[in-house]
Amino acid sequence: MIFAQLNDKSCKTYILGSKLPKVILIDPVLEGVEDYIEYIDKNQLQISAVIDTHSHADHISGSAVLKDRIDCEYIMHENAPSQCVTKRVKEGDVIEITDIKLEILDTKGHTNDSISLIWADKLFTGDALFLDDGGAGRDDLPGGDSAKHWATLEKFKKLPEDLVVYPAHDYRNRKPSTLANQKKTNPHLKERTQQEFVNYLNDLKLGPAEWMKDVLSMN
Ligand SMILES: [Fe+2]
Repeated sequence: MIFAQLNDKSCKTYILGSKLPKVILIDPVLEGVEDYIEYIDKNQLQISAVIDTHSHADHISGSAVLKDRIDCEYIMHENAPSQCVTKRVKEGDVIEITDIKLEILDTKGHTNDSISLIWADKLFTGDALFLDDGGAGRDDLPGGDSAKHWATLEKFKKLPEDLVVYPAHDYRNRKPSTLANQKKTNPHLKERTQQEFVNYLNDLKLGPAEWMKDVLSMN
């Protein structure tokens, strides 16, 4: 059994495996590919699949390169524009690799190809939900849709509250915590009608989203 976050930067890449050596990577980044391969070789692991939770606007995915180098499956939402994807998934699909079952949730809003994945007690949210005051990924980039994001957040609210949220980004060393905790600490999960949520995002008028400000300050 293996579960870890592999990057030392704000983009988060998760490795998970149960019956080793076969493992899955979620949201690998291009600049981490050599490190991932070194890690895999050192630990005598084998990547069976790479999964992108959505088309990323802020960094380049390492999935296509890994797929070519390792000949593994590359999994994304059926709306994903990438031609490199080998397996397209939708709401309710279950990815099975060894005895790992990853349940797919359609969690559009930040992009039109956003998925989240449930594995045991973990919920990989991509940019559909960040941690605490990080809120969530912005909806004003191409493919973003605040009304759909509201529906996604409502979906999260109905999931078992003991699921632990693992987002694709975090800029302030926030620690993954349960949905129950996120309902208390994450402003995006406050009870709102769809219109109230759209107004809430419009009223923020932050310009670059909070996490993008952080990126800018680091450059
Ligand atoms: Fe994103």
